Amino acid sequence: MPAEFRIVRTPGALTTAMEAWKRSGYRVALVPTMGALHAGHLALVAEGLKHADKVAASIFVNPKQFGPLEDLDKYPRDEAGDAAKLQAAGCELLYAPSLADMYPPGFASYVKVAGLPDRLCGAVRPGHFDGVATVVSKLLAASRADVGVFGEKDWQQLAIIRRMAADLDLGTRIIGAGIVRDDDGLALSSRNMYLSVGERAQALALPKALAAAREALNGGAAVAPVLAAAHLALAQAGFNRVDYVELVDGETLMPLDAVAVGARLMAAGVVGTTRLIDNAAV
Ligand code: PAF
Repeated sequence: MPAEFRIVRTPGALTTAMEAWKRSGYRVALVPTMGALHAGHLALVAEGLKHADKVAASIFVNPKQFGPLEDLDKYPRDEAGDAAKLQAAGCELLYAPSLADMYPPGFASYVKVAGLPDRLCGAVRPGHFDGVATVVSKLLAASRADVGVFGEKDWQQLAIIRRMAADLDLGTRIIGAGIVRDDDGLALSSRNMYLSVGERAQALALPKALAAAREALNGGAAVAPVLAAAHLALAQAGFNRVDYVELVDGETLMPLDAVAVGARLMAAGVVGTTRLIDNAAV
């Protein structure tokens, strides 16, 4: 267990702590989160420790990335439990700002990446990725992190953050960390706790459909029927809504009609009232 663990709550305190580490010659990583930490988040800390000497994490449930009908109010919050998990994982600094610390009265700026947020999840969550880009640019700017670590489960988010960090010369290298799954194959997500036992069984159709589609595509099957079969499998498993099943270029997120280097299978849908996403390399 690391000797040190501190919680800071203002952007200035975060900058001071990270700059002090950098002056001592340490490379520093930031793992941005919204809390309710599970093994997937702790894998991000482990990934950070591969690329940096010191890992800080942030916990901030960012209202700007929730739509008016989304789960901002019921989003799980457990700062003390999260802090203990982070410390045990080797994280030494937690940035947990209040709403007013992050967005003081008069706050009027936002960061919008053009293009990449328009499709996939962005098509059903208008404004979501502007909220993500805004808060992540603030987190990276205040932290001065050498490395920022984000989960590959949110592949579209990762692509947008990579673009934003490069475009804005933020000086932070963005690292993607692989998807962590439960034993049954479901990708870990803070939102899985909303699923009833029956819904969780239905949700397993998502990783199964992606695995079957990946196998078919890797075996040379044509893209359109494979995607249609995956879509149908989700609907038949009881998904209330299938938002998309697509094969895209992993960087531009544009649809592909044939497998290519860097291709990514992406899917999203709603089980009960819980929206789930998942993806796989092809
Ligand atoms: O992936 C998340 O948990 C959030 O979107 C992030 C990157 C912490 C920004 O609020």
